Amino acid sequence: MDEQDKRACFTPPLMAVAIGSLELKNPVMTASGTFGYGEEYSPFVDLNRLGAIIVKGLSLERRAGNPPPRIIETPAGMLNAVGLQNIGVRAFIAEKLPFLRGYDVPVIANIFGETVDEYRRMARMLNGVAGIGGIEINVSCPNVKKGGIAFGACPDAAAEVTQQVRGETDLPLIVKLTPNVTDIKEIAQAAEAGGADALSLINTLTGMSVDIERRRPHLANVTGGLSGPAIRPIALRMVWQVAQAVKVPVVGIGGIMSAGDALEVLIAGASAVEIGTANFIRPTATLEILDGIEEYLVRHRIGSIAELIGSLDMHPDAEGEGVDG
Ligand SMILES: Cc1cc2nc3c(=O)[nH]c(=O)nc-3n(C[C@H](O)[C@H](O)[C@H](O)COP(=O)(O)O)c2cc1C
Repeated sequence: MDEQDKRACFTPPLMAVAIGSLELKNPVMTASGTFGYGEEYSPFVDLNRLGAIIVKGLSLERRAGNPPPRIIETPAGMLNAVGLQNIGVRAFIAEKLPFLRGYDVPVIANIFGETVDEYRRMARMLNGVAGIGGIEINVSCPNVKKGGIAFGACPDAAAEVTQQVRGETDLPLIVKLTPNVTDIKEIAQAAEAGGADALSLINTLTGMSVDIERRRPHLANVTGGLSGPAIRPIALRMVWQVAQAVKVPVVGIGGIMSAGDALEVLIAGASAVEIGTANFIRPTATLEILDGIEEYLVRHRIGSIAELIGSLDMHPDAEGEGVDG
């Protein structure tokens, strides 16, 4: 068979995945806070090719965020303390969504609040709005009613906020989990019981960096969220654990810089991935990762991405127990 015949016989692999009732043409999404409101990246990325766009976290009212300095590079990663700066949910719907409606790509609104009521009100405002394909709730925010502990750090609070948002919207609902907990499976199961259609993980890990000459923290906020390749093995471990502990789809996030990194997460059990810090280094990272996943499927003669998801071969000496340290 010559090259032309081979091309004629070639059937591209099926890349579509479902996140609850949300159908994605492929598993590559953008991670909240690293892709603006989509428009900022449109000169570099054909937005129509993405599985979904998850926009910067939205609050009920606009927020100015933290004072600078609020970003510092670290070995194999970065710390950010942007402080969830955003234009607020109403302004997003009025000013940013019309641009995104021009594309054939689901838009997922990432929301956060300080009280359950704030989450509920935002979910109600987004419900039924043309162009919104789903909601991702960031439960890493302090729950002011529960003394500042993050919703995502306590199973009861995670279940409650999920249940309350679920009650306000028919939109596919993704609950985004924080890794800053002892047992992420417990929180995942609570969010699932609360009615989440899917779980995404991980958000950033809390870290810190000191300027030794000035003996001051590098960040004005002192601590920040660590992201990038440094967190990938932790994210992968958590995705693997959660995928086994729940029935709903899991979306993997954390240090995914290449197609190989995304494939690790998919093989470990994630149905889709979100690309974060990589967008800051290479604005076209999402599309490179998408192309690389497709190439891998072709090379391994795998007809559909569904065959790859959770296909980790657990040989007997790879149980993950008995780790030193
Ligand atoms: C500058 C910056 C801003 C972020 N803002 C948000 C946000 O608004 N809401 C949210 O849920 N996650 C936010 N994140 C977390 C990312 O979506 C992602 O979960 C995290 O960075 C890990 O993925 P990565 O290592 O691929 O960046 C932010 C991350 C960074 C680096």
